[in-house]
Amino acid sequence: LAKVEVELATIPEGKNVVIKWRGKPVFIRHRTQAEIDEARGTKWQSLRDPESDEDRVKRPEWLIMLGVCTHLGCVPIGEAGDYGGWFCPCHGSHYDISGRTRKGPAPLNLEIPAYDFNDAEGKVII
Ligand code: FES
Repeated sequence: LAKVEVELATIPEGKNVVIKWRGKPVFIRHRTQAEIDEARGTKWQSLRDPESDEDRVKRPEWLIMLGVCTHLGCVPIGEAGDYGGWFCPCHGSHYDISGRTRKGPAPLNLEIPAYDFNDAEGKVII
């Protein structure tokens, strides 16, 4: 089973990194408090794929998800789109700062991979 380890200290608050995991991009965002507040303040029950932010992250400041658009598999662009998250340029899907689909053809939220934190080493293992 291929695992990938990322040192969290290398990702400043308010930044994204993209890593490769099993040939797919994984997005890691170190969210700011304002972004966390926005993600948690959204009325998620009425979204197309209703999920609370709390159900999508293990720790509020770390959003970790597959960088594969749930429409037809393009790689969305970070810090873009109408909802402060990601934008898929292939057919115009917008994702919010929790990676939830908000506009455009994407039927589902960006997928969350299995991951664990290793606090002793300051890493996340995906
Ligand atoms: Fe992303 Fe179509 S593949 S909008």
